[in-house]
Amino acid sequence: MSQLNNFKRYTITSALPYANGPLHIGHLAGAYLPADIFVRYLRLKKKDVVYICGSDEHGAAITIKAKKEGTTPQAIIDKYHNQIKQSFEDFGIGFDIYHRTSSAIHHDLSQEFFLNLYEKDEFVEKLTEQYYDEDFDQFLADRYIVGTCPNCHNENAYGDQCEKCGTSLNPTDLINPVSTLSGKPPVLRPTKHWYLPLDKYQPWLEQWIDEKEGEWKVNVFGQCKSWLKSGLQPRSMTRDLDWGIDVPLVEAKGKKLYVWMDAPIGYISATKQWAIDNGKDWQQYWKKQANADDDTCLIHFIGKDNIVFHCIIFPSILHAHGEYVLPQNVPANEFLNLEGDKLSTSRNHAVWLHEYLEELPDKQDELRYVLTSILPETSDSEFTWKDYQARINNELVAILGNFVNRVMILMHKFYEGKVESDTGTIELVNTAINQEIGNIYNALEVNLEAYRFRQALQNVMDIARLGNRYLTEQEPWKTIKIDAPAAKEALHNCLFIIGHLATCLQPFLPRTATKIFDMLNIGSLDFDGELVFNNGHQLNAAALLFEKVEDETIDLQLQKLQNKKQAVETEHQHEIIPAKENINYETFATMDIRTGTILTAEKVAKTKKLLKLTIDTGIDQRTVVSGIAEFFEPENIIGQKVSILVNLEPREIKGILSQGMILMAENAEGKLTFVAPVEGFANGSVVR
Ligand code: MF3
Ligand code: ZN
Repeated sequence: MSQLNNFKRYTITSALPYANGPLHIGHLAGAYLPADIFVRYLRLKKKDVVYICGSDEHGAAITIKAKKEGTTPQAIIDKYHNQIKQSFEDFGIGFDIYHRTSSAIHHDLSQEFFLNLYEKDEFVEKLTEQYYDEDFDQFLADRYIVGTCPNCHNENAYGDQCEKCGTSLNPTDLINPVSTLSGKPPVLRPTKHWYLPLDKYQPWLEQWIDEKEGEWKVNVFGQCKSWLKSGLQPRSMTRDLDWGIDVPLVEAKGKKLYVWMDAPIGYISATKQWAIDNGKDWQQYWKKQANADDDTCLIHFIGKDNIVFHCIIFPSILHAHGEYVLPQNVPANEFLNLEGDKLSTSRNHAVWLHEYLEELPDKQDELRYVLTSILPETSDSEFTWKDYQARINNELVAILGNFVNRVMILMHKFYEGKVESDTGTIELVNTAINQEIGNIYNALEVNLEAYRFRQALQNVMDIARLGNRYLTEQEPWKTIKIDAPAAKEALHNCLFIIGHLATCLQPFLPRTATKIFDMLNIGSLDFDGELVFNNGHQLNAAALLFEKVEDETIDLQLQKLQNKKQAVETEHQHEIIPAKENINYETFATMDIRTGTILTAEKVAKTKKLLKLTIDTGIDQRTVVSGIAEFFEPENIIGQKVSILVNLEPREIKGILSQGMILMAENAEGKLTFVAPVEGFANGSVVR
């Protein structure tokens, strides 16, 4: 049996979702459903377990969303924290607490952690050059800088990562970086930050992670090894940001803690709050105990994009602090795709949990079932509505629902729902069934403890399969006429099978399990509980567990996904300006475009848009009036290289004779940028 059983206490966490949008099925399948199944299992084994989660409310994820929605970060986190919390409740994710990182208790604990490490002299202080947006007067978070990926040349890579090739980046790695705030290239400015010396911890980390070989999932272990192999670098734990937790140092005024420093501490602060609310000692669930045998078993459920933070950075912080236990396991999942495509919030390619329940009310166990069946445990997996329909119709309805329903109907038809025996005792007398169920329990536990939830769910379904097979063999509806005691015994045996089925279903389909226990008219059972029917026990009426999913239902969902896609596409189409009619080369060649340099620039009085520029065209110096004043400060564009149409008929604008036109590119948002030679070509070079 796995080492899991040697612990007195269990602290189970699921990644704190960013409070910047609603949840979709990918979230559920990544870090929440598996954890919830696992926790429910531990509870059935009567373990002392606390299950922790909450909203991650700091970092650029939040401020970017606020900017997009034209509101404040506070408004964003309040809105989405509540929505997310509700979705988790609706789908039966049984956290002991769903907390938030904006709480005072979390700010305090995060600062305490920082100071603890600071006072131990763990941080390396470094003055480095970081990107700064001069128009917006602020340093730029990694996510606020886009540019070309040095690895795959994707032009829309972020300062921390290229989402196309997955390479993790520093903002200074980007080719042609641009600030997403002003749309301009940022400048480098010196700033001081506090770095966690991961390089110093590397030998310790290597040893610790090597101990996990064979125990941790291959994908997780492999990722850790590859990080270690490429050599760890110190990572800054502070940021120049205006949203987050203040760095508790006088000399760090205005700086915030790195969101990946504070967020995992959120697991601990949430536990603290839970302990206060429930009269518990939080330290038992996090700190090393006087006797190591009393230590809690800490397990982090996450998605694969979080591995480095939970297996390298957070353990390093806990290790540097010294008083805390380290994670026993980090069973990260891969990604879930949808209908052949990546789930995407920005493209609205997702099944949102709140929408699902509006359209398919009370069908949360159906979704839990399908998602558990396809969890991306060892590789990416895919949700399709056709598969959803097939699994519900062919498995939940045809196997599970059908078995329970047939038995209940027959019990009511033949015995008015009374479980009665002449001998006075009701037992599961069939040794073959007993044996088979015993084997299933064993397999189930092994799979659950190895985080193989897909397989575990199949074990549970095997109980229903066994039941169906047995019922079909016994044919009590026939034998009742020729051998009534045999018919009764068969149906009683089926009731035991149903009882075990309900017991084992609890971690996976909690609502369905409750419905079955209600039908059986017995309380819910844990894994060691004994299933007894007293002589004369009265069953409740049969209730339908699952309904068949009709084609219309899934057609509607598919249509909806298609509509969303089209909506997003039309949105993008607005940005595409159709090409003008063709012209011949001669017409084009009549335009004399040259490279030039702006020598002077000033606002044209009493106008908002106009700048009066003097341009060195290489031929002469001339005046051009240009409508770019909303985008550029005159003093910032002196020396700017430009392309200029020099043979445009001169015109008088606001009393100034304008001789030529500066070429500008305009993007979908109406922003302008200069079209100029990339290299420092001499003024007067011909553009053609
Ligand atoms: N908010 C992060 C994400 O969605 C996860 C944070 S997990 C925690 O990727 F450990 F930092 F809390
Ligand atoms: Zn790339």
